[in-house]
Amino acid sequence: MTVQGEATGPLTTESGAPVADNQNSETAGVGGPVLVQDQLLLEKLAHFNRERIPERVVHARGAGAYGTFTVTADVTKYTRAKFLSQVGKETEVFLRFSTVAGNLGAADAVRDPRGFALKFYTEDGNYDLVGNNTPVFFIRDAIKFPDFIHTQKRDPYTGSQEADNVFDFWGLSPESTHQVTWLFGDRGIPASYRHMDGFGSHTFQWNNEAGEVFWVKYHFKTDQGIKCLTQEEANKLAGEDPDSHQRDLRESIERGDYPSWTVGVQIMPASEAATYRFNPFDLTKVWPHADYPVIEIGKLELNRNPQNIFAEVEQSIFSPAHFVPGIGPSPDKMLQGRLFGYGDAHRYRVGVNADQLPVNRPHATEARTHGRDGFLYDGRHNGAKNYEPNSFGGPAQTNRPLWQPIPVSGETGEADTPRHAEDNDFVQAGNLYRLMSEDEKERLVGNLAGAMSGVTRDDILERAISNFRQADEDFGKRLEAAVQALRG
Ligand code: HEM
Repeated sequence: MTVQGEATGPLTTESGAPVADNQNSETAGVGGPVLVQDQLLLEKLAHFNRERIPERVVHARGAGAYGTFTVTADVTKYTRAKFLSQVGKETEVFLRFSTVAGNLGAADAVRDPRGFALKFYTEDGNYDLVGNNTPVFFIRDAIKFPDFIHTQKRDPYTGSQEADNVFDFWGLSPESTHQVTWLFGDRGIPASYRHMDGFGSHTFQWNNEAGEVFWVKYHFKTDQGIKCLTQEEANKLAGEDPDSHQRDLRESIERGDYPSWTVGVQIMPASEAATYRFNPFDLTKVWPHADYPVIEIGKLELNRNPQNIFAEVEQSIFSPAHFVPGIGPSPDKMLQGRLFGYGDAHRYRVGVNADQLPVNRPHATEARTHGRDGFLYDGRHNGAKNYEPNSFGGPAQTNRPLWQPIPVSGETGEADTPRHAEDNDFVQAGNLYRLMSEDEKERLVGNLAGAMSGVTRDDILERAISNFRQADEDFGKRLEAAVQALRG
């Protein structure tokens, strides 16, 4: 284990005064009551009470590491992002992996998507790609996210996760069928953070020097190979070593066995989006590789452990709204909601100056804003003017947006996500099922049936099974039989 930062010199109070006795509090007489003038005791107890900040409302449990992204292909005809501007160019990154539903102290080896949150410290500011280890998601509109997460977390009455809530919501949200099929399949419990792929999941905009727009999806293919756990293996490991993923990541970096991923993108020219067979901005769908192949563009390597988990992992913040010139959002309704959600979470959880902490601030440039003050402001602007325009110099706007405008039409309103020619909630779930080998299908049905057998209401069960039946008749039939067998 490599540990840095041991202080030399005498122990002190928070304000730097030497401490005479750190073992005994000060009393009125030997064995008497404790004195209020023992400021060391009061300071220690008070600081201790304030050690926790609110844990992330989702993805509370995670581990992170620093590393390097290296460009391996020329993509300048698609984007003017500087960190992608040259083959061989290296950019420092920080990646935080996570599970979604568990609290801060939960076990790692559970069936749950894994977060894959990547911060590129570029010369044009930090670019955050806050993705998962799955290419799709359960829902396609941010307005459903709080409800969805409530079903994954603890029930307000029982205080536990309840199969009734989980399958009730999924059953009533048929767009979840694709992601649920993925989650209960073989890849649903990665063996470690190193042995899984990552995805940006959403569609994003790239734009080049000429102002042309492309829609892209990011893929991070693990160079360690995919390794997963069966439900039985995971149940055992979660009990024996709750920190299994976190430990595996730290130890592999300590021994110089640096995990890496091959980075690729699918690229769709903007003109093809309107007529593509699937809505390219629907997060419950993939773009089949036969339609848009994955083009390799880079290598990601993790090679440095954080030295202080609280400072660098717990206080790290990632926002889908952190773009750089040449990259921007798509009209994906989930992504649009996330553009608001994360900054708000950071201001609540870490504070208004969260962006200025060492792990979060730009490393390859500096932030030059006229935003000031707030809790724990460090005074880095000295006496510089705090408004713009001004007549005293200082930073000024560039007049060049990071991303290109896109055409919109129609009336305002609470519209459902538009459907394209082949869109329905079941087609890609069915395709995924039919791609599986007989053994894989068997395990998928077994895993799902195991989880569903905890459902207490027949109507909830029937509705949930019906979604899988619509994806594939055989899938639904087998699932129904397996659930019935388990329920007796
Ligand atoms: C509209 C839907 C969503 C909302 C409102 C939402 C909201 C949030 C919030 C509030 C956090 C905690 C942030 C913090 O406290 O620092 C979070 C974390 C996270 N979310 Fe989402 N989320 C959504 C969908 C997604 C999707 C679709 C993905 C992946 C494709 C995703 C990936 C992540 C990851 C990886 C983290 C952990 C980031 C970290 O390591 O700090 N989320 N989300």
